[in-house]
Amino acid sequence: MFGDMKVFSGSSHPELAAGIAAHIGMPLGKLKMTRFSNENMKVKIEENVRESDVFVIQTSCPPVSDNLLELLITIDALKFASAARITAVLPYFPYARSDKKDEARISITARLVADLLETAGADRVLTMTLHAPQILGFFRKPADQLLATPILTRHFKGRDLSNAVVVATDAGAAKFAGHFAKRLGTPMAIIDKRRSDDSEKAKSVALIGDVDGKDAIIYDDEIATGGSISEAAAILRKFGAKTVRVGVTHPVFSGPAVERLNEANLDELVVTDSIPVPKEKASALKNLKVLSTSAMFGDAILRIHGGRSISEMLE
Ligand code: R5P
Repeated sequence: MFGDMKVFSGSSHPELAAGIAAHIGMPLGKLKMTRFSNENMKVKIEENVRESDVFVIQTSCPPVSDNLLELLITIDALKFASAARITAVLPYFPYARSDKKDEARISITARLVADLLETAGADRVLTMTLHAPQILGFFRKPADQLLATPILTRHFKGRDLSNAVVVATDAGAAKFAGHFAKRLGTPMAIIDKRRSDDSEKAKSVALIGDVDGKDAIIYDDEIATGGSISEAAAILRKFGAKTVRVGVTHPVFSGPAVERLNEANLDELVVTDSIPVPKEKASALKNLKVLSTSAMFGDAILRIHGGRSISEMLE
């Protein structure tokens, strides 16, 4: 067994880190991050971590590269301060969409991030709803993936589901959308979505399944520019969906997302707080509901520290 448990946070998402610490019932560890005029960063751990079981929370949000580097530097500082074990807690995994070689001579940056975490000194990784579960295989150290599905399920079970259908935005989302539909006890449909280049413009070209007269709940791992969701909402309405709700884990909300999502006239837009939603975006977005992941991360941290199962939490 490891020594004391300590939880530290990077600067990406202080609200989530505070919520996780409050759920666990302990204060966040003390560290100081200094940014110099040449943009270099320095991290100083301001308490003893010798032989401790340390968790460092840092999500991926703008500035993405700085936040990643801050995490790596913090892990490095903890390692050389003699922490016994370091778990990197990444609610939204950086570069998660760069996970496959589907074109010649391209980078697979999610794998590089896994290598960097290990090189910095991470002994374990805890993350949530990866773009593709095979990213877990990029690590040569233990890596756990939480799913937001139980949190989304709890929310949508409070809605009338008598006429609902869960809709996957593409074939890639179909497997987890299927689990979600099973939990909600609804049928499912799948959209045939195509991307032709790196322009972040998705086109929904067809629909498999019946949505006519139904209350659609679109399921996806993340919303970036909002293209997939607005295309999905349009095709669902074209095929007769009565209402269109959305349940998504990661609210990246980049580029034209706010305009596109508002134009899509969603009946409900449900996301988690795996990424902070800036106040101006949160107030501009119609029908937005942000669900907390802090209890789930807090429980997972306690389970990892106590050597208990994580998969039990997702059943
Ligand atoms: C892509 O394959 C993912 O599952 C999401 O559908 C995608 O990241 C959403 O991106 P956007 O909001 O830019 O369409």
